Amino acid sequence: MLKESDKNFRQVNKTIILSLKLKAAMSRTTDEKEVEHFKNWISVWWPEDRPNGLQLMNNVRIPFIKDAIASIERLGNKESIEGINILDVGCGGGILTEALAQLGAKVVGIDLSVEILNEAKRHLESKSVELKQNITYKVESIESHQERNSEKYDVVVSSEVIEHIDSDSIEHFIQSCVDVVRPGGSVIFTTVNKTFRAWWNLVVGAEYWSKRIPKGTHHYGKFVPPSVLIGYLERSGCTVVSSRGFAFDFNVTRCDFTADLDYFYAVFAVKRE
Ligand SMILES: C[S@@+](CC[C@H](N)C(=O)[O-])C[C@H]1O[C@@H](n2cnc3c(N)ncnc32)[C@H](O)[C@@H]1O
Repeated sequence: MLKESDKNFRQVNKTIILSLKLKAAMSRTTDEKEVEHFKNWISVWWPEDRPNGLQLMNNVRIPFIKDAIASIERLGNKESIEGINILDVGCGGGILTEALAQLGAKVVGIDLSVEILNEAKRHLESKSVELKQNITYKVESIESHQERNSEKYDVVVSSEVIEHIDSDSIEHFIQSCVDVVRPGGSVIFTTVNKTFRAWWNLVVGAEYWSKRIPKGTHHYGKFVPPSVLIGYLERSGCTVVSSRGFAFDFNVTRCDFTADLDYFYAVFAVKRE
């Protein structure tokens, strides 16, 4: 029989080992304040009253990603993304992950927050067996994932994540994302442009005025101009193929493509062979 003090000792050891493992899964692109911020807002991922911004964004993200994949000739049936291996980096509560998996893609979603991935798993719980079979969630940084999964995926997607990473680390983050894609595969980022319009709508409008997004979620200094993202992609061995802007309507009831890249935008690049 274990004494109470032995049990406590084992429990403390277990906790230390778990936090060391989590620390190892983190990386130089990890801003722990950001991870902490997101995990305090678990209820915003899958609201019951009305769709949130990320859910509305699927209206543009899914067609953009589908078109990008379809334009890569080698992937067979151009109408379908069925069976395509996708890595969703910074998958959060699984809003994009689930939508891609619903179309038949095999999606691995990685994020740094245990709590957020638990929410993603909780949401997936009630879904069909087929959908569950198409999704794997892992608490892991892209750098640690990359060590064992070099050139493994057809497609890497990272949506609304790089604006939460320190500017100094973004290039390294992007390089790691490119490393896990096979040559000829697709790399897709969506993010926020560094403009007055983006700051006004997202920080002033959504965080302070309508309070649709928790305060402190976005920081102007971290927003990424398209020229910077495109430069990093080209330097990491990709050729940028297309980009499109998108924005919400005034009441945030829908999200549509725009003629410019002034606010949100998506970039699609192909890894050179
Ligand atoms: C705005 S959410 C986007 C979630 C998801 N991609 C979507 O569009 O529905 C940002 C997510 O990025 C994650 N994140 C922040 N920094 C990260 C990093 N360095 N590596 C991976 N994920 C990160 C956060 O934990 C959070 O879940």
